[in-house]
Amino acid sequence: MTEILEITKPLKIGYKRTCNCPDNHISCVNAKEWVKGMVTIQAFYYEGRDIRDKDTHPAVFPIALPAHFIKLLTHEGELVLDPFVGIGTTLVAAQDLNRNAVGFDLNEEYIKIAKKRLAQSRLVPGTQQIAIVDDAHNIPEYLEKNTVSLCITSPPYANMLNRPRLNKSIRGDLRNNDQYLKVQQYSNDPRDLGTMNHKQYAEALEEIYSAILPLMKPRAHCIININDVWWKNKRHLTHTYVIEALQKAGFEFRNTFIWDKRDLVNRVGIFGWPNNFISLGATMEYILDFWRPP
Ligand SMILES: C[S@@+](CC[C@H](N)C(=O)[O-])C[C@H]1O[C@@H](n2cnc3c(N)ncnc32)[C@H](O)[C@@H]1O
Repeated sequence: MTEILEITKPLKIGYKRTCNCPDNHISCVNAKEWVKGMVTIQAFYYEGRDIRDKDTHPAVFPIALPAHFIKLLTHEGELVLDPFVGIGTTLVAAQDLNRNAVGFDLNEEYIKIAKKRLAQSRLVPGTQQIAIVDDAHNIPEYLEKNTVSLCITSPPYANMLNRPRLNKSIRGDLRNNDQYLKVQQYSNDPRDLGTMNHKQYAEALEEIYSAILPLMKPRAHCIININDVWWKNKRHLTHTYVIEALQKAGFEFRNTFIWDKRDLVNRVGIFGWPNNFISLGATMEYILDFWRPP
């Protein structure tokens, strides 16, 4: 039977560790796992439970990505927040790892899918994972101050989806696939960060993260998966807008990780050759790590 969760403001959700780790440990991992996690270039692969159908959601990260950072940066029983949760991948990872978690998305359809995924794989009782339809600006209505141990997300990459998909990174003869020229934005809602130009986007991120900062425990980490965009032969440095917005919101930048996607990209096309040198952006993404300063 699926558990019906009551959404109250604030939410009744656990945030304290339930493990017996020493007080000064940031997470439950041992030294060997810690050393592996410190490596700045990491590959994350999709597994059977991941959803890669672009018609269901155009930009889903693998469960392995949030799982990696949840393991490294939280204890069992602690609270994880994803302000742009999409179809709930972070919540599935939190459920696997016995962490409480809350995720927000503007799109009701995505939240329905997130709930379905959670109902399918409830393995460990004792923690709650809650998916809520709401604007990320409203997160402070749901969470108490100093309770979040990790905020992790992949926000929209500004308005990069608001244009027909040209499949430029795919080999010429394969470009005309079922996604070609489709516009797959998340919504037309003006509050959706995916509809905003870079300036509006940076302002919205700053507002949202300024309100999240006091909800986090001091020294709690905040991870953002993001990439830059090529558009009309110009490079848009989305990751720098994110860094600037988070710093203005009061977060301190700590680490850069690179998601190595080389094994996830195949049938690549040649663009720019022979005179316009353009890197194959689809082979990596940034994972930026901040914290709430002590
Ligand atoms: C890159 S997707 C996240 C995908 C997610 N990591 C997953 O694996 O399903 C970004 C999400 O942000 C949502 N979004 C955009 N603006 C929002 C806002 N103001 N508040 C809440 N969610 C928003 C979009 O609907 C979209 O699903």
